[in-house]
Amino acid sequence: MVLLLHGTGGDENSLLALGKAIAPGAALLSPRGKVLEQGMARFFRRLADGIFDQEDLEKRTVDLAEFVRRASKAYGIPKGKLVAAGFSNGANIASSLLLRFPDALAGALLMRGMVPFTPEQAVELNRKPVLLLSGLDDPIVGTDEAAELANILRASNAEVTLHWEKAGHTLSQGDVLMAFDWMRKFFRNHPAPAQ
Ligand code: MLT
Repeated sequence: MVLLLHGTGGDENSLLALGKAIAPGAALLSPRGKVLEQGMARFFRRLADGIFDQEDLEKRTVDLAEFVRRASKAYGIPKGKLVAAGFSNGANIASSLLLRFPDALAGALLMRGMVPFTPEQAVELNRKPVLLLSGLDDPIVGTDEAAELANILRASNAEVTLHWEKAGHTLSQGDVLMAFDWMRKFFRNHPAPAQ
């Protein structure tokens, strides 16, 4: 099962087509972010572009972990089967969830993600697969920041794949293909796509 987490201004429908493309046949769990910023849904507050309200991020991450716990129970998702796929603001809360509640996810696909926070204590991710899809020309997330996120996850013992796409903040076809291959490689219980 894939937990889809949309970007700022998106909603629960934004990533459904992407989810179907990268994990054909997988069940999709797609909540809407509860924070509104000038009418745009997000998963946590920010103080300015790229500057996060850390208190709110922590609280919303706890809420998301609780949502995941309840949904897993309601839909009978076995522990360790849920893979997050987040874009932009959704990637940022997915990283926060992974770093704060390592057991909540089997792995994470972080698309155009930033560093949500730097963990103060060591985190053990037990070689969970994490794919970072970062844009070489992303005007919102600098390449240094994407590389730092990869380093934080590597230091937390995740199995990190960092893919640089010749793209900006918007996803391109190469990102989708990469995500599809990564899903197949690490979570192969999804049925193969129709030929
Ligand atoms: C966004 O627009 O979503 C930002 O780039 C990332 C964030 O604020 O979490």
